[in-house]
Amino acid sequence: MASFIERMYLQLTLVLSISLGIIQAVDRSNFKTCEQSAFCSRQRALRPGQSSYRALLDTLELSDSRLTLQLLNNNNKVRLLLELYRLQGNITRVKINELKPIKPRYEVPDVLITDPPTEPMSVVAQDERGVVLSLGGVDRRLYVNAQPFRLDIMEGPKLVLSINSRGLLAFEQLRMRKDTISHKITSTVGSMWDKIKNVFSSNDQKDTEEAGKKEDTEKIEDKASEGEEQEMEVDQPGMWEETFKSHVDSKPNGPSSISLDFSLPGVEHVYGIPEHADSLRLKNTDGGDPYRLYNLDVFQYELFNPMALYGAVPVLLSHNTHRTTGLFWLNAAETWVDISSGQGSGEVPQTDVRWISESGIIDVFIMLGPRPADVFSQYASLTGTQAFPPLSSLAYHQSRWNYNDQEDVAAVDRGFDEHDIPYDFIWLDIEHTDGKRYFTWDKNNFPQPKDMLQGLMDKRRKMVTIVDPHIKVDSSYKIHSEIRSRGYYVKNKDGGDYEGWCWPGNAGYPDFTNPEMRTWWASMFAYDQYEGSMENLYTWNDMNEPSVFNGPEVTMLKDALHGPWEHRDVHNLYGLYVQMATAEGQIRRSGGLERPFVLSRSFFAGSQRYGAVWTGDNSAEWGHLKMSIPMCLSLGLVGISFCGADVGGFFKTPGTELLVRWYQAGAYQPFFRAHAHLDTPRREPWLFGPDNTALIREAVRQRYALLPYWYLQFYQAHRTGQPVMRPLWVEYPEDVTTFTIDDGYLIGRDLLVHPVTDEGSRGVTVYLPGNGEVWYDVHTFQRHDGALHLHIPVTMSTIPVFQRGGSIICRKNRIRRSSSCMENDPFTLYVALDPQGNAEGELYVDDGHTFKHETDRQFIHRRLRFTSNTLSSRSAPPPGNTIPFPTASWVEKVVILGAQEPKAVTLTSSGGGESSVEFEFDPVTLVLTLRKPDVNAGVDWTLQLQ
Ligand code: NOJ
Repeated sequence: MASFIERMYLQLTLVLSISLGIIQAVDRSNFKTCEQSAFCSRQRALRPGQSSYRALLDTLELSDSRLTLQLLNNNNKVRLLLELYRLQGNITRVKINELKPIKPRYEVPDVLITDPPTEPMSVVAQDERGVVLSLGGVDRRLYVNAQPFRLDIMEGPKLVLSINSRGLLAFEQLRMRKDTISHKITSTVGSMWDKIKNVFSSNDQKDTEEAGKKEDTEKIEDKASEGEEQEMEVDQPGMWEETFKSHVDSKPNGPSSISLDFSLPGVEHVYGIPEHADSLRLKNTDGGDPYRLYNLDVFQYELFNPMALYGAVPVLLSHNTHRTTGLFWLNAAETWVDISSGQGSGEVPQTDVRWISESGIIDVFIMLGPRPADVFSQYASLTGTQAFPPLSSLAYHQSRWNYNDQEDVAAVDRGFDEHDIPYDFIWLDIEHTDGKRYFTWDKNNFPQPKDMLQGLMDKRRKMVTIVDPHIKVDSSYKIHSEIRSRGYYVKNKDGGDYEGWCWPGNAGYPDFTNPEMRTWWASMFAYDQYEGSMENLYTWNDMNEPSVFNGPEVTMLKDALHGPWEHRDVHNLYGLYVQMATAEGQIRRSGGLERPFVLSRSFFAGSQRYGAVWTGDNSAEWGHLKMSIPMCLSLGLVGISFCGADVGGFFKTPGTELLVRWYQAGAYQPFFRAHAHLDTPRREPWLFGPDNTALIREAVRQRYALLPYWYLQFYQAHRTGQPVMRPLWVEYPEDVTTFTIDDGYLIGRDLLVHPVTDEGSRGVTVYLPGNGEVWYDVHTFQRHDGALHLHIPVTMSTIPVFQRGGSIICRKNRIRRSSSCMENDPFTLYVALDPQGNAEGELYVDDGHTFKHETDRQFIHRRLRFTSNTLSSRSAPPPGNTIPFPTASWVEKVVILGAQEPKAVTLTSSGGGESSVEFEFDPVTLVLTLRKPDVNAGVDWTLQLQ
């Protein structure tokens, strides 16, 4: 007889499959609107007006780099502590916490890469109306207006940004429940406070505490009278308990939400705050729901709405022709963002942004740009840059739920060879495990995982297996019993292990916020722990929002406990921690040598440091194909460059035209993986007739040819924080036409892509930006002027891609069965001349998979330059003491676009003297092809055109 657990699982599977058949779109009733979220509706009921806060100027204290000041709420007399910091690189940090919370409030750890370095601030002026601080730069100042409390950041006479100008600062102070205030509770709170204090580690928190203590003795009013005032406050429904559907959130700490508004004068365009299936440019939320940031497993998500999805990055960028700025709201609790664009004072456009979070503190970083590139570096200085992925992970990935057994894997692998389509990774979804016990294999279907992996390795290919963070409750399952006995599970409010339903049935959820737990988890990836694993096996972390099928909004109860903190406080961080621990595991299993590759569905600010993300369970619909572009662009803007969408669409079955178009688009997005739902028919690229196979082959081959360029972009993203996939406005910040474009984009600076995303399309209209710029069609080499809309006819084989005049791009045109097989292959350089006859580019080569580029500085980084009819390759500055990486690759061809016919071409190479080079010139297309310079890619050389 089936056990209770098995029966529940069957029921669950039944519900899911029924819904698969019937439901065509998201069931909105499973997810809260702002109205249904008690704190959001409470906060939203507060209308703009004069702030009830005033700054108490006599409490101002300024150390070199930190200013503190108390804010008093005129209504309830509660005091807040405001801290201001000027950070290196034109960033201002504003922190607001309760001056004396009855217990600590959560401050997000592990997201900032360091304690951000500060710079001195000085008081320029002060009177009873406020204080003026110098923020350095050219007359950059911060005005603290005392009553009503407001902060203005000015540059010269220009107001850049105002904080609390609409008076929406709201801070629900922690309190005791009125009807239960008693000595008993006071002592419970006391002991809880002590417990939390023990885990308090961040310096910031210590500072806050110290400042608070000082106030205790010196300045603050009598606590008793403050208490009286607090009791005057009226409790509202949902403050101490909230019910959604059948789920009760017990809210033992009561209301704790926070809110703050920001006004951006002169701004009409704002971007970021992923993850939403919406346009790149964020919309006004007046009259609708705010954008929601709360990591959720949303079944069959809808397009063009502000509902929350799997990941959250609380970073918003604003842009106009003069300036780009960023707001980073460092809070991991459920958050809602209201956006309102309209006229500010004096007919100037203005955008107002209001952030509302359920708990934690206000900790916001204002990144003042002024250029887009500056905002990216500023954000990178806080949260780090994109992990530099193994080169092969930038190639093509073949996945489906599921490849059934070893024979299936072998057949698919053979299929790629038989159809001459390259691929690097094959993926195994949850069915490969022994009953959804991660780190194990189904013994019938995958009896010899090492043989399978060795077979792939022989072809220089790799595999990914899924490792989800829900752990089957089964005492005979080692992973479970270890986590349980070590006390590493998330706890429910009564202290027992929290359990919820997911793929394995009843499951526990490891507390990834616990560093000890993460270290243990990482150790599970050691080759002797994860049996059957080998060095060509990598990892996919799915369902890490976390997804809990029977939980509220398909996630964890907010009153579950992570040590002393509620799930409410840490929710949006869970997915980041899972990926962090997994990436660490992969690094450790190689003794610190190899770069990891981990794909995660859930993410937060800083997730870029741990691997790749994808846009979750999309559908095989044209709208979803289109939406993959703004979704990945939005992620790139907030640091997460390694993004992709399931090629072909996860749910439903794509028609062949859609499938082909999706391959063509996916080939030009950072993470390129086909994936499909369990119930969909098979879709390996050769199942749709030879013509379609040829089209898909061609798209995948274009990806492989461009891998050197992708790798360079990721190297740069890793070093500088600049996004790989960029909206046009990032490179053309003064061209207003670009501000709303999200069907075309740039890869790096030099390639513009406008995939065909409409059914039956006969042509696309591409916007080529840049006055005075020229662009070359990469397939026909036809040259077009910039700053115009270009209509180009398309056939099924067309992928509209253009190279910027003035750039040099390196490709490898000999396509083999995997990227590793192409390691020593030669390069072809595409030199696209600008109207002045110049071009520049870079080439980056290393071993493609270890950290030696960092630890031993073993790499080749060349600067390629074409000027005065001379093409040269030199070591890119700063040369430093790089250890030349020995490469067998050479330059086999140079294609110069927009060229004139030379009389002769001479090669001078560092070691080899002079030689003449064969060439061919096409006077119609103006393409000059230099054949076989045959010079090593790692040395200095010059090609002189006479
Ligand atoms: C949900 C993921 O989004 C999807 O990609 C995966 O196939 C299923 N979980 C099963 O693991």
